[in-house]
Amino acid sequence: MEDRYGRQIRSFRLSITPKCNLKCFYCHKEGRNEEHGKLMSADEIGKIVNSSLEFGVRKIKISGGEPLLRTDLPEIISYIKNEQIKDISLTTNGILLEKYAQKLKDAGLDRVNVSLDTLDPVQYKKITAGGNIESVKKGIEKAIEVGLTPLKVNFLAMDCTVNQLPAIMDYCRKIGAILQIIEFIPMEPELKHHHVDVVPIEEEIAKNADNVFTRKFMQNRKKYVIDGLEVEFVRPMDNTEFCNHCTRIRLTYDGYLKPCLLRDDNLVDVANPLRNGEDIRKYFIKCIHEREPFCKP
Ligand code: 5AD
Repeated sequence: MEDRYGRQIRSFRLSITPKCNLKCFYCHKEGRNEEHGKLMSADEIGKIVNSSLEFGVRKIKISGGEPLLRTDLPEIISYIKNEQIKDISLTTNGILLEKYAQKLKDAGLDRVNVSLDTLDPVQYKKITAGGNIESVKKGIEKAIEVGLTPLKVNFLAMDCTVNQLPAIMDYCRKIGAILQIIEFIPMEPELKHHHVDVVPIEEEIAKNADNVFTRKFMQNRKKYVIDGLEVEFVRPMDNTEFCNHCTRIRLTYDGYLKPCLLRDDNLVDVANPLRNGEDIRKYFIKCIHEREPFCKP
């Protein structure tokens, strides 16, 4: 199914908990700030994903909060697993990854994205309010070892982290990870000064790249290969190209379909109708109808 702007739906991002074991000062909390209703069960998540298939969903990303804080995560993955889903990935801070990587792989997870904005242990601790970078690195290594690959490192480009970029690039090249450079979205005005323009960084990498690809179903994001390292960019701010090619819908941890990361005023309740025994297809249709580019040409 296409939305009113001719955009197909391909990807479904599921937030499964608002809880996190870190407290990064910049976190956008998947665009859902306050604490709201009750969590969805693994079975409910499975049913909602199952219903999304007929609208075109073929890729699932599981996120949080920190999704590894849900002890039933392997169960959730096994409920989502379906012939028609081509890719199930997880976004994690990596703190608990070493312990759970094998279980997640066994449950049917394809790959992980791990957030890592610096390689400096002191700065890491500061950004995350107490996180231990060694656990994250061990988690990354373990995930690669058990085949949760291609593993992506999510690097958030901010004023305080850009100088870490060369080190992060070397690290990713060495371990065989893809580097995803993410533009910072200031959720509060007082965080604005952390924003850095990612365009010049992308231009510099493009200039030295051996190869360039366009990720057609992923907001037309570009992917570069530079000395064997794959680098991707996520640049949603004021980017009509990004919105024009968006194929993603979201599910909040408390069971609302969310047409756009950057808006909180057009959520569509789906968990309660499901609990009331309703046919939930109409709520997908409503959500897809609500979709509009946040940044219009
Ligand atoms: N702007 C951009 N990206 C963010 N993330 C969290 N908060 C923000 C923000 N304000 C990203 C992190 C993490 C992913 C789950 O979301 O980089 O990797």
